[in-house]
Amino acid sequence: MVAAGAVNGREGWSSKTAFVLAAIGSAVGLGNLWRFPTEAGENGGGAFVLVYIACVILICLPVLLAETLIGRYGQDSPTLSARKLAVDSGASPLWEGVAGVGILTATIVAGFYCVVGGWVLYYVGVFAVDSVSSGVTGGALQGMDVDAVSALFPSLLESPSLVVGLQLLFVVVTAFFTYRGVSKGIELMAVYLMPVFFFLLIAITVYGMFSGAFGDAVAYLFTFEPEKIDGTVVLAALGQAFFSLSLGMAGMMTYGSYVGRDVNLAGTSGVIAAADTGVALLAGLCIFPIVFAAGIAAGAGPGLMFQAIPVAFQSIPGGSLVGLLFFLMVTVAALTSSVALFEVPTAWAMEKFHVSRPKAALSMIALIGALGVFAGLSFNALAEFHPLDFIPIFTGMGMFDILDTLTTKLMIPIGAILVCVLVGWVASDRLVDAENGLSGWLHRFWRLLIRYLSPLALVLILIYGLFA
Ligand code: TRP
Repeated sequence: MVAAGAVNGREGWSSKTAFVLAAIGSAVGLGNLWRFPTEAGENGGGAFVLVYIACVILICLPVLLAETLIGRYGQDSPTLSARKLAVDSGASPLWEGVAGVGILTATIVAGFYCVVGGWVLYYVGVFAVDSVSSGVTGGALQGMDVDAVSALFPSLLESPSLVVGLQLLFVVVTAFFTYRGVSKGIELMAVYLMPVFFFLLIAITVYGMFSGAFGDAVAYLFTFEPEKIDGTVVLAALGQAFFSLSLGMAGMMTYGSYVGRDVNLAGTSGVIAAADTGVALLAGLCIFPIVFAAGIAAGAGPGLMFQAIPVAFQSIPGGSLVGLLFFLMVTVAALTSSVALFEVPTAWAMEKFHVSRPKAALSMIALIGALGVFAGLSFNALAEFHPLDFIPIFTGMGMFDILDTLTTKLMIPIGAILVCVLVGWVASDRLVDAENGLSGWLHRFWRLLIRYLSPLALVLILIYGLFA
């Protein structure tokens, strides 16, 4: 057992289970429920799913273990942990920059993540009102036609006060758990909310099995058509896998720093990756039957969850209540992830500036809230504001898209490449030989992946993302 609050004199997880649940809570989020089905739908279904799974096992899992190992090695803020590892290995303390990039990325991602979190809250509200006003037996949103339901989303985006208000609400709720701390906030939330999440996900999927177009969804997600695989599909799958597993953002370093030395991190990494991938696939099996049953195309884009799903709930019995449960489930998943995102800069600020947790949490409201305000306003008041038009990959983008592209296409791959180099080469035998919980051929295989395959794949992704 890992004693509560006793990891290197800092707060820590109270048990291995708590760590695993919190890490799964961090990994499972809008990435799985919103982005995965969208990306799969836009990139050819089965082809995407297959490449995605290969990426998780061969490229992401080694990095997931590496990041967690860095955190646990130092048992300190991500920068200090990375620095300690480098210095102990005879390398420059500047290697703390590995974590620096990650912390910055997590902060930026948190900014736009909370905007989407706000959209989810909006739909919780829509379905809650509908459940109360129309009873729970018929389909949802009965007084509205399909166009009116689809139009809810654009009209939400057009309202600066709604978008920003809900985003700030999401930020404040997240920061509340940050303020409560590792074992009393994050862990408690994960331990109670993750089972609720799994229950809802499975219940809605089973519901879709019986009343949706389940067969079509299975065929769509699992029919493998090799000819559909191309550079774009691989890029999308790998990028999605990194985002979904919360990699390249010092997130797993932060959570890993609260783990005691007796935990076998290779085992926990496998469990975390398997759970995250399982949830992504289940999310596909949950969403597509409902979407197909309503006759909506798989490639509906980002509107899949916010437009197609509400429309689909119109035509199914009990739609108001199922819709409410669905968006509550998404809220839970988004919240456990945004708490993880906030924790990265919070842990750093507490160590760097010696501030208390409440002060750090308050600063995060200001910092991440402000970033999110800019991102949220890019859909309405600042729609014409394209500050980086002169840089080719950002041309024509508002703040939301800039922050998204900057992090997913550039900063995550860079952060992850640095992790591979630090763990695989710089610190080489220090982490590779000890601590990792792997032995025999698996150990040698991991070493091979973290030194060669993962960084190489990431470099290719980076180049492709920049120039293709
Ligand atoms: N993985 C999360 C999701 O799927 C989002 C995320 C990306 C994240 N990077 C992170 C969460 C870092 C915590 C820490 O929604």
